[in-house]
Amino acid sequence: MTPFAPAVMLTATRPRIEPSGRERHFRDDQIIVSKTDLQGRITYANDVFIEVSGYEEAELLGAPHSLIRHPDMPRAVFKLLWDTLAEGREIFAYVNNMARNGDNYWVLAHVTPSRDRAGRVTGYHSNRRVPERRCVDLVAGIYRLLREAERSHQDRQAGLVASTSLLEATLAGTGKSYEEWIWTL
Ligand SMILES: Cc1cc2nc3c(=O)[nH]c(=O)nc-3n(C[C@H](O)[C@H](O)[C@H](O)COP(=O)(O)O)c2cc1C
Repeated sequence: MTPFAPAVMLTATRPRIEPSGRERHFRDDQIIVSKTDLQGRITYANDVFIEVSGYEEAELLGAPHSLIRHPDMPRAVFKLLWDTLAEGREIFAYVNNMARNGDNYWVLAHVTPSRDRAGRVTGYHSNRRVPERRCVDLVAGIYRLLREAERSHQDRQAGLVASTSLLEATLAGTGKSYEEWIWTL
């Protein structure tokens, strides 16, 4: 591989990308937008998404949103996201994403169900803005503990249960839901 080639190795499910350890940033006046179907496959990505993620539009469309999943992200947070959407509710969440070359970028995401005229959920929509650095530092510390809890179990499901319990215990200590808590940071 040349030094300029993206660190992408295609597998049957998603590209295996090594985190580069470099963080990339987008501007305060930019919003990263994507839409998905009910399974979380990308149906729309705006120009900012394409620019920041480093993927071509054709690579994004139809791909699972986990394409840009960073390995440091706790599974418990995605469980919370999907559980909230399944209840028909929207959620704000801090997410650390991974670009095509392995760089990471933090976002504050607002994810909402999209509905048709009859009120049926037809897909999901996410708008992401630049988060405050102070908040990212606090959230990253908690996410690290959640991820450690997940990695301490060989069984994935047991790891998810452990980190979900830890997230709930952390939130119980604040007396707030995840959403209420992130606005207090
Ligand atoms: C509208 C929408 C936007 C999403 N955005 C992201 C995202 O930016 N980054 C991410 O890692 N997962 C995102 N997800 C969650 C992914 O679908 C997936 O649950 C997550 O990446 C964990 O993947 P895994 O369970 O395969 O590890 C999004 C889901 C939806 C419905």
